[in-house]
Amino acid sequence: MIKLSDIDHVKFGVKDVDESSNSWQVEFGLTERTREGRESYLAVNYEPYSIVVEESEEVGIQYAAYNLHPDFSLEDAEQHLKAVGVDYIRSANAIDFVDPENNGVRYVPFRPRAGQDVYPIASRLTNSLHPGRYRKLGHVNYLTADVNSMVDFYVNVVGQELTDRLGGDAGAFLRIGPDHHVNALVNTGTPHFHHVAFDMGDWGMVPTTFDHLAQHGRVFPWGPVRHGIGGNLAGYVRTPELDCFIELYADMEQIDEFHEPRDFPDDRHSSSVWGMLPPRSYFRFDEESIAMERESLRGIYE
Ligand SMILES: [Fe+2]
Repeated sequence: MIKLSDIDHVKFGVKDVDESSNSWQVEFGLTERTREGRESYLAVNYEPYSIVVEESEEVGIQYAAYNLHPDFSLEDAEQHLKAVGVDYIRSANAIDFVDPENNGVRYVPFRPRAGQDVYPIASRLTNSLHPGRYRKLGHVNYLTADVNSMVDFYVNVVGQELTDRLGGDAGAFLRIGPDHHVNALVNTGTPHFHHVAFDMGDWGMVPTTFDHLAQHGRVFPWGPVRHGIGGNLAGYVRTPELDCFIELYADMEQIDEFHEPRDFPDDRHSSSVWGMLPPRSYFRFDEESIAMERESLRGIYE
């Protein structure tokens, strides 16, 4: 069985790479590491990069990449995909394939810790990272039409573990390490990438981070909320230029070796401990929804 070590990066197609890279840096505090042609590689913190944006006609996510566990090479991963009958494309340092709903998945090799990476984040040195940066890329979230086949694929093909379910087949949460989820699935009947999420590290980041985004004209359709599942405190920023949301969160539940998957009721408390549910537009990506949400028009909440 294949094993993973972590989420590595997420890649998006964007209309204008200069505009997008600038937005990631100025609005979201990432640091551009390199620019290769019409691609920008951006880091959240000390890692090489967590977000890649490429100028493209097709706007939105291209894939989520995961590091293999150190016990597994790319060759092992190829053998695994052959054994489970999944088509893939092998390149020099990656393997690409798609999940049952055509979302891109990439394997990249384990990244050994060396040099300053062996230190805790707070005791490393930098001459490039910005103040107010987040801690790390945390997870991805997909709206799906078939939770069960997606769970089966992400557990048995990709190599994630089921943490918990929501209302049977209404949703599912999958992990790699101690974080409650690195991948979440919500059954809305229509597949669509919903959000990429960054761990802010500390809830004390909210005032400066959220105010800063508001100062750039960003809209938060939902949050801050405390999720009943996963326990994270979260806010969701609309990013139409990526055809998804960005979630900023802190304080996610940490899972240990004694964990048994739970099935949470599909109710308000599982979604939001403090009671506030998202507007309908939270699950929509059409222009009208985005415009109505921006203006807080009533119709979208009904
Ligand atoms: Fe999330």
